[in-house]
Amino acid sequence: MSLFAMFTSAGQTGFGYGSTAEQVTEGLSLAGRTILVTGCNSGIGQEACRVLALRGALVLGTARTKEKATAACVTFPGKAIGYACELSDPSSVRGCVAAVKADGHRIDAIICNAGIMMLPKLEKSHGYELQFFTNHIGHFMLVTGLLDQLKDESRVVVLSSEGHRQAPAGGIAFDNLSGDKGYKPLTAYGQSKMANLLFAKELQGRFSGTRKTAYAVHPGVVDTNLARNLGSVLRRGLAAIGPLFLKSVGEGAATEVFAAVNPKALPLAGSYLSNSNVEKPRADAEDAALAARLWAESEKIVQAL
Ligand SMILES: NC(=O)c1ccc[n+]([C@@H]2O[C@H](COP(=O)([O-])OP(=O)(O)OC[C@H]3O[C@@H](n4cnc5c(N)ncnc54)[C@H](OP(=O)(O)O)[C@@H]3O)[C@@H](O)[C@H]2O)c1
Repeated sequence: MSLFAMFTSAGQTGFGYGSTAEQVTEGLSLAGRTILVTGCNSGIGQEACRVLALRGALVLGTARTKEKATAACVTFPGKAIGYACELSDPSSVRGCVAAVKADGHRIDAIICNAGIMMLPKLEKSHGYELQFFTNHIGHFMLVTGLLDQLKDESRVVVLSSEGHRQAPAGGIAFDNLSGDKGYKPLTAYGQSKMANLLFAKELQGRFSGTRKTAYAVHPGVVDTNLARNLGSVLRRGLAAIGPLFLKSVGEGAATEVFAAVNPKALPLAGSYLSNSNVEKPRADAEDAALAARLWAESEKIVQAL
């Protein structure tokens, strides 16, 4: 496929690389829907919130602090409420779950969007490598804590990445979740994004027999604050090629918004989506036994926190 065709063609859903979050929600009224989005103050999460609010949804936007979340939420063109949810701090995640419950929200979709990438040096929370803890464990706690708040047809969307292909052999290095036995920034990011994919897969399995659905998403390559840990040369390079090879935030937010609200996503439940269409992930991301093991290990980790 030529580059031009890749950027302009549409897949089976009618959407493609160049579709924006506004386009994948065109004509949809989200009035009466409540959608929780983590990472509402930056990048594609912020754009997803803007578009969901524009279409009439009540957005529950989370950020590391209530102040950050509220500051973002007041800018959205509709109803939005900010909540604190520092994903690397279990007490903050539990506080977010408690606050959402106390406010009586019944949820139509959760978009696990927040994330960090390629920390140059090993950092940890509660003894676990920080990307695994933030990107996976934090969201695992949040979603499992809110399961009772989900409406009958609700959807859970987990942001993964093509970076999942950089995960270690076997997918998840269960014997090195601390990073102490070796740490490589890209491998650790890849492992956390593999965990995001496996979490969505296991969740879809657990939703079987219900009308709830789960999806994993690669948003595309978008120039956001996510690249803050890349070296300055690489960042300048990204900025230079950006207009040609990077998605805009509108294009980057499209697939997560598509998965969360578009009726055409429903037959694709349980899939890994990119450009608002099904994409084949690395083989171990489809390993049901691995997904079940990660769920069990995550439960053990969370119980001990
Ligand atoms: N951009 C890309 O090319 C790309 C490609 C593949 C996948 N993704 C995925 O897309 C998602 C969104 O990324 P983005 O590009 O929009 O990045 P971004 O602009 O850096 O936004 C990331 C969001 O996550 C929040 N966050 C980070 N650590 C957190 C923590 N410990 N607790 C709570 N919130 C935290 C950030 O809050 P602060 O602003 O306070 O740090 C920010 O709101 C991520 O999951 C990323 O892995 C992005």
